[in-house]
Amino acid sequence: MTLERFDIARILLVDDEPAFRLLAERFLTQQGHQVVSVADLATARTQLAAQSFDLILLDLSLPPAFDPQATLLALAEFTAQPVIIMTGHAERELALKAISLGAWDFLAKPVDPDMLAVVVKRAISKHQLSRELTLLKRHHQPTDVLSQLVGVSRQMDNIRTLVQRIAPTEVRVLVTGPSGTGKEVVSRVLHQLSLRSKGPFVSVHCGAIPAELLESELFGYVKGAFTGADKDRQGLLSLANGGTLFLDEIGEMPLPMQVKMLRVLQEGTFYPVGGREQKQIDVRLISATNAVLPELVRQGKFREDLYYRIKGITLETPALDERREDIPLLIQRFLQQHPADIQLSPEAMAWFLQQTFPGNVRELKNTLESVLAIAQGGVVTLSDIQLLHLTPQQTPAATPLLASPGLSLDEQVRQLEVSLLTQALLESQGNRSQAARVLGLSRQGLLKKIERYGLQQMGG
Ligand SMILES: Nc1ncnc2c1ncn2[C@@H]1O[C@H](COP(=O)(O)OP(=O)(O)OP(=O)(O)O)[C@@H](O)[C@H]1O
Ligand SMILES: [Mg+2]
Repeated sequence: MTLERFDIARILLVDDEPAFRLLAERFLTQQGHQVVSVADLATARTQLAAQSFDLILLDLSLPPAFDPQATLLALAEFTAQPVIIMTGHAERELALKAISLGAWDFLAKPVDPDMLAVVVKRAISKHQLSRELTLLKRHHQPTDVLSQLVGVSRQMDNIRTLVQRIAPTEVRVLVTGPSGTGKEVVSRVLHQLSLRSKGPFVSVHCGAIPAELLESELFGYVKGAFTGADKDRQGLLSLANGGTLFLDEIGEMPLPMQVKMLRVLQEGTFYPVGGREQKQIDVRLISATNAVLPELVRQGKFREDLYYRIKGITLETPALDERREDIPLLIQRFLQQHPADIQLSPEAMAWFLQQTFPGNVRELKNTLESVLAIAQGGVVTLSDIQLLHLTPQQTPAATPLLASPGLSLDEQVRQLEVSLLTQALLESQGNRSQAARVLGLSRQGLLKKIERYGLQQMGG
């Protein structure tokens, strides 16, 4: 029999009979499952604390007391995964009671292997379905478009306010900022909140398309314009008609193309390559760059007249190290988007808060994704991070978030606030009342700040 991935589970088998454990373990392993078997409840608890399982097979009569009632009471602890009870023939009453207490199913001993296979399979797929349902619900919550721009910093507040104000206008927008700071996110949100949101959003990476192809890519061409042009083809400009044209990395646009683009922006018309018929377009232009355009203008690499045409309103997405208080909330958002339900241990969270991210949000996200990929048992630990040789970068451990120099007092105060909250939560191991006392806050006041800064996972 071949099994789909869907059918494979990590199973915790709890039974005091060595012979049965051996047989069941062998049988289930043959079916492709991973089995951990233990002889008593105490060891079962240790296992459950250390790793996650998809299913528990639980004998009702276990040492030391061999009291089924005690095992039934333990059912309440095991609600995170389905439990299948195993009982002797004479214990029908107990089996029914177990079901009423939340067990998913029961098997009568001696256990018939075929029956075992069927019951296990049913429990796994039922569990899988309910998990998928939860994920679906999570993903289909109508999220506020603006909330895609995650961050509690004043800089992010400003960006959200500006985006909201200028999105419904036709003004051209230039988004500038270091690599990985969210320029593309900002641009997409601008489109989604614009009156053109039902129209296309066409993104052109000006540096990625070879100079000699850029014109035909953007403007399209007519049949016979060059060898290989065996029929008319629409360009990206026409595809963007009625929507938004996003010129990404516009600083990398070759100078000859800049001249042609300028004409498009001045007149709203263009000619496809080899064509004589002028085309009209109706697009809103959003551009992005991590270069300092006035600098490129001075160096003669970017046309000044084009710069003034595309500039419209300039939005700047600042480096992550200038708004370190955004880090916890970004992490929280990325964890929510992750398909598996994984958390960071307090130490792992603290590690992230100590890092500097020269590659900004993208680097934070990539780093997080690589540790999520190797995490086991639903928790990222510090040793997972060490396993990847992600070496910590400077910053003393005592101040998880170090305020960056050159910021306004207000910004530094915020970063310090997040830093102190983090420290108090770590030291109290997540005990909110204790942390509140240390900080001289009311518990309610602390909870508000935790929510605000996305520190829910600090200290466990
Ligand atoms: N404020 C934010 N909230 C949520 N996610 C963000 C935010 N900023 C950036 N990201 C995420 O970080 C990654 C990089 O963002 P994006 O591609 O928009 O950066 P960029 O500024 O365009 O980078 P580059 O200059 O390298 O093109 C993406 O995965 C994006 O979803
Ligand atoms: Mg980009």
